[in-house]
Amino acid sequence: MNTKTNENADKGNDYVYIFDTTLRDGEQSPGCSMNLKEKLQVARALDDLRVDVIEAGFPIASDGDFESVKAIGDLGLNAKICGLSRTRRGDIEAVARSLESAPNKRLHIFIATSPIHREHKLRMSQQQIIDEMTAAVAFGKQWFDDIEVTAEDAGRTEMDYLTEYFQAAIEAGANVLNVPDTVGYVTPSELQAQFQHLTDHLDKPDSVVLSAHCHDDLGLSVANSLGAIEGGARQVECTINGIGERAGNCSLEEVVMALRTRQDRFALRTGIDTTRLYPTSRLVTSVTGSRVQANKAIVGRNAFAHESGIHQDGVLKNVETYEIMRPTDVGVPENSLVLGKHSGRHAFRDRLEQLGFAVTKEKLEDLFVAFKALADRKKSVYDEDIEALVLGNEQSGPW
Ligand code: KIV
Ligand code: ZN
Repeated sequence: MNTKTNENADKGNDYVYIFDTTLRDGEQSPGCSMNLKEKLQVARALDDLRVDVIEAGFPIASDGDFESVKAIGDLGLNAKICGLSRTRRGDIEAVARSLESAPNKRLHIFIATSPIHREHKLRMSQQQIIDEMTAAVAFGKQWFDDIEVTAEDAGRTEMDYLTEYFQAAIEAGANVLNVPDTVGYVTPSELQAQFQHLTDHLDKPDSVVLSAHCHDDLGLSVANSLGAIEGGARQVECTINGIGERAGNCSLEEVVMALRTRQDRFALRTGIDTTRLYPTSRLVTSVTGSRVQANKAIVGRNAFAHESGIHQDGVLKNVETYEIMRPTDVGVPENSLVLGKHSGRHAFRDRLEQLGFAVTKEKLEDLFVAFKALADRKKSVYDEDIEALVLGNEQSGPW
């Protein structure tokens, strides 16, 4: 476990909180469901990555979700653990029960605010929605000091109403105001203007943080999150590999590396240990079985591959001719030697660690025997083969 704490104390206006929702919004996407053991593995990896908040699930949704939020809360991680809730009392009580023994926790309440959701889904007036949200915040206060309020479909909500809704949330005691582009509809400059409006018009203490939650339906979620940050957002909600509903959520690795690589433009920081990005991405790929495309930024197989002769020549002369980040900055192994039957235990263990697997000594022995047998049959053993070995082997016992 890392020693740095991720406490949501005020870290200054140049700090962007990273709120990871891989285990909630990410897990909601088709083909990405995880069992309890896998969720615990991912939660530990997210904590090693040093995210500030882990949204662990939606406890009222199912017994399985309740149990996994509870188990993650009980791990005693540095990250704050968050549970999602509608405005209903039963939902809030479920989050409170699941996080009863968690030392560092947040309640996340959402209700929709856009005209289409008000008229067709909720059949509620603007004022009824505000009343429902403020009552929910007041109810949640008996268990939580830290309450996030979301205006679902904020991207398509009238600006004046959104401002009124969030002002009421502040007065009710919310400390994080989340502005989701639920359907991935807005553009970066529109979202920047929306955040700028909230920054300029909300009467809020500095401790109240504006948050962006962008979906990728038009492929704009990372650009939109950066627009939101330029308009004053200081929390970004995102997922590993960008997994999530439909086309997915803002990808954690991309938004974090954009902030870091373009320090000259943003002058902002996060608490993320970027060298854990690639191993965490691999772990999420392994447990969900949902592969990232080869040309995916930051963590795709080709993200640092230079194929053309001109590029290879340039990189050999000065790496910065064609590389704006070093592979090692994001934890891609510098030496990507393929393992084979002559590889030793040490090289095998190193590769397991690079892929995000922390195995016990006994498990290492079992896996090493299986690896040697595989290497005998196959000339070269690739990362995918090793992941399959670990996950196949995992069925036969804990590690
Ligand atoms: O996309 C969305 O609006 C959500 C909220 C529940 C935060 O996931
Ligand atoms: Zn979402």
